[in-house]
Amino acid sequence: MGCDAENLTPSKLVASCLIGGVLLGASVYGLALALPDGPLGFRRRRKKRPVRVYMDGCFDMMHYGHCNALRQARALGDHLVVGIVSDDEIIANKGPPVTPLHERMIMVSAVKWVDEVIPDAPYAITADFMKKLFDEYNIDYIIHGDDPCILPDGTDAYELAKKAGRYKQIKRTEGVSSTDIVGRMLLCVRERSLCGSPRNSSLQRQFSHGHSQKDEDGGSGSATRVSQFLPTSRRIVQFSNGKGPGPDARIVYIDGAFDLFHAGHVEILRLARSLGDFLLVGIHTDQTVSEQRGKHRPIMSLHERSLSVLACRYADEAIIGAPAVVSRDMITTFNISIVVHGTVAENNDYQKEKDNPYAIPISMGIFKLLESPLDITTSTIIRRIVSNHDAFEKRNAKKSESEKRYYEEKSFVSGD
Ligand SMILES: *[C@@H]1O[C@H](CO)[C@@H](O)[C@H](O)[C@H]1NC(C)=O
Ligand SMILES: *[C@@H]1O[C@H](CO)[C@@H](O)[C@H](O)[C@H]1NC(C)=O
Repeated sequence: MGCDAENLTPSKLVASCLIGGVLLGASVYGLALALPDGPLGFRRRRKKRPVRVYMDGCFDMMHYGHCNALRQARALGDHLVVGIVSDDEIIANKGPPVTPLHERMIMVSAVKWVDEVIPDAPYAITADFMKKLFDEYNIDYIIHGDDPCILPDGTDAYELAKKAGRYKQIKRTEGVSSTDIVGRMLLCVRERSLCGSPRNSSLQRQFSHGHSQKDEDGGSGSATRVSQFLPTSRRIVQFSNGKGPGPDARIVYIDGAFDLFHAGHVEILRLARSLGDFLLVGIHTDQTVSEQRGKHRPIMSLHERSLSVLACRYADEAIIGAPAVVSRDMITTFNISIVVHGTVAENNDYQKEKDNPYAIPISMGIFKLLESPLDITTSTIIRRIVSNHDAFEKRNAKKSESEKRYYEEKSFVSGD
């Protein structure tokens, strides 16, 4: 028995194909989209069409927690479409975003697990938008984290998708949230205004999750950083490409702090990658960053910064804790062809007469200055937060309450 698509309704078609034990043929793939909802598992396995999954979010102050969610979402399908909430929708629902839409687009598109982005997604999935996702974007499943997403009217934002049997859930990434990161920045700014007085631990507690931080600071010189992140070797492996350069590859090296990974970082990595076949990214240690930029930096610890870089599609490999000075030995060890540096950076050390960290590549004639495509630095991001200080503090105080509750109530979390 064959699959005669003309004479059968989609559900009969599947039934008869299954009974006949015949795999669905190429001519039937298009029809699969129109199949009514039902027990999907069995049918999916027989279908060769890639499974398309959808995830949405604001992706404001994007961090490796977002990247990890995208990684998990992508693993539930073959093609990941990401909806990015518009600036207006964020303003209406949570207050002003730190990162405007065009920068959030750059950030999300650069994550190596993302296949497609939709700008201006609604804050909550409406029936209309869901229909559009299913009919126009051919989405099979809508993915969301396991934190409940309750709309102002008390309903579950993903109820419609759940009812349709088209919803899948992933685990929240432990140890980081935008609220926490904004807290670290506000703290750093407030502390500085205290002008050298001892750090205010009540403030610190307010923005951390009620943990007593003491001086556990991951070995950096900074006593202000509040990080709950416990870097595991498995997480690093999940984010790595796990591939070295191919034979004869032209290897490009770029180094820096990559603190609060932003669109400016993405763009300079993209440019650097275009100069060769393999981009090696040197990520400075917390100590190096503190020495160069003051004891309040970095905001994100070495391992947090490394995950953000590794999630970026333009980075092929990272040196987790790169030396501040590019040595001849490093150039030989990694067969580096060219060392690059962006024009927009917080340090312009490449111009230094003395102790220039790029002295060796410069003397070898393999140093290249790249015109940074975007005029954004980590300080830009911090300034944006500070200039909106009051709004963020209010928004943050509210959110950190609910996060504190989450941490108080949380139990063992399994999975990825
Ligand atoms: C720390 O901050 C709290 C809240 O802003 C304030 O009441 C307290 O006086 C501060 N302590 C010091 C030592 O500055
Ligand atoms: C080192 O890099 C150059 C390209 O810059 C390449 O031609 C050469 O094959 C590489 N050497 C090794 C051992 O891979």
